[in-house]
Amino acid sequence: MIYIAPSILAADFSRLGQQVQDAEKGGADWIHIDVMDGSFVPNITIGPIVLEAVRKATKLPLDTHLMIINPDRHLEAFRKAGADHITVHQEACVHLNRTINHIKSLGAKAGVSINPATPSSTLTDVMPDVDLILVMTVNPGFGGQAFIQGTLRKLEELRSMIRASGRDIRLEVDGGIDTDTAPLVVRAGADALVAGTSLFRKPDIGAAIAALRASAQSVKSSGQPS
Ligand code: DX5
Ligand code: ZN
Repeated sequence: MIYIAPSILAADFSRLGQQVQDAEKGGADWIHIDVMDGSFVPNITIGPIVLEAVRKATKLPLDTHLMIINPDRHLEAFRKAGADHITVHQEACVHLNRTINHIKSLGAKAGVSINPATPSSTLTDVMPDVDLILVMTVNPGFGGQAFIQGTLRKLEELRSMIRASGRDIRLEVDGGIDTDTAPLVVRAGADALVAGTSLFRKPDIGAAIAALRASAQSVKSSGQPS
């Protein structure tokens, strides 16, 4: 199965609840929420208060992407606000194993993300614990950037590592995902697609989700058992 996670970063925040409901009705599997602190990444976005509002608008899992330094300080607040998946950045965590265990102890799925310049090998020792790996396919901080082709090899490596672990780990991609790039990342092993611009900036998000899913399903994924 391919999971589609519209990123609210590209939504119209003046009518966020409606936009999230449209995404749910339109066939979204998760709602992706980008939390930025102006320090780990150059941009500042939203915190637990907005997450709490989104929680009221949908029953879908809230896929929460923390682009913040020292995320441990805020894990409880995001879980309390309704986060189902909590993804931290490998580059932002000094004690990644501890942070993953902390997320799991709160009852959420634990994700780890890596930037385009971070090698897959940095995740070798968290494979027994992590529930989700998020590969940034742009440098995090902004929506609407161009997909970085060099991340495809990393997806292939991570898919092999997941297969070798024997564990059920989602391999998610984020940044520049549309109907052109979705087949590439799925072929390389991704099974969860975050997309902001290519979904929320279209006139009909349901049609945009359907088109993205169709493009992703048009190729044979190296993530599927053969
Ligand atoms: C970027 C964010 C992404 C962003 C993707 O730092 O993590 O989730 O919303 O936006 P698009 O799909 O427009 O590249
Ligand atoms: Zn994101």
